[in-house]
Amino acid sequence: MNDPVLIEERDDRVIATLNRPDKRNAIDLATVDALHAVCDELEIHPRILILTGTAGVFAAGADIGQLRDRRAEDARKNINAALFVRIHELPMPVIAAMDGYALGGGAELAYAADIRIATPSLRIGNPETGLGILAAAGGTWRLPALVGEALAAEMLFTGRSLTADEARAAGLITAIHPAQALMEAAHAIADRISANDPLAIRHTKTALHAPRSDHPRIDSELQAELFESPEKMRRMTAFLEKRGRR
Ligand code: COA
Repeated sequence: MNDPVLIEERDDRVIATLNRPDKRNAIDLATVDALHAVCDELEIHPRILILTGTAGVFAAGADIGQLRDRRAEDARKNINAALFVRIHELPMPVIAAMDGYALGGGAELAYAADIRIATPSLRIGNPETGLGILAAAGGTWRLPALVGEALAAEMLFTGRSLTADEARAAGLITAIHPAQALMEAAHAIADRISANDPLAIRHTKTALHAPRSDHPRIDSELQAELFESPEKMRRMTAFLEKRGRR
């Protein structure tokens, strides 16, 4: 059997490619387990994560073959939601690079990323209610935060997916690239992140994800740590010395 997720490891990033092209990269339990293994690794050795798909599809949802057999006790296990929360909380940024369909659980996986980019063929949305279930792995809470409550409600109640242009206009994705340039664009974002101080990136992510009530206390606590860091001193000194030489 093929690996459900292909993993490429680099010093500063991991690329995880959903790899069930015959099933439109539907997220089954083996995929969930493989992505948990990626999280195990990234929680210990923080690096950027790029999530992508294969064969012109990001992911056509949770695996409906498995979903149909799940009962109440399975719903309460939060199988996909727990994974997507873990991905969202990874120490370093997560980039979703999407080609084609990102539906249901596939869309919710992308909602859990920090940055989303796509190709012109993107179709992103949540058709769950048409299957008799709700979008319980982020659709009802992350999607409104990303696109606003009105559009989220329309998408969730009608099951209508957005085109790439609509997704960009809604702020759900930040850029559209031709399919052959998608990964290059994802890597270019990762390169820019990598050029910055990793601790500053991690603390920025923590502050970004903190609830409103934690601000500005959390920002000043994290900043206090950075103000003492040798890397801050080094980077600021390098900037000032370069200017001084002009
Ligand atoms: N779960 C399980 N299998 C899926 C799947 C999913 N979410 N999405 C696609 N597949 C399987 C199909 O059953 C089919 O398998 P088969 O060849 O063994 O019959 C294979 O992937 C190809 O799917 P197909 O529908 O023929 O491809 P398509 O290119 O014509 O259409 C989609 C692509 C994404 C529009 C269509 O597959 C689809 O609507 N999928 C379900 C989307 C969905 O409702 N997701 C939410 C789940 S919560």
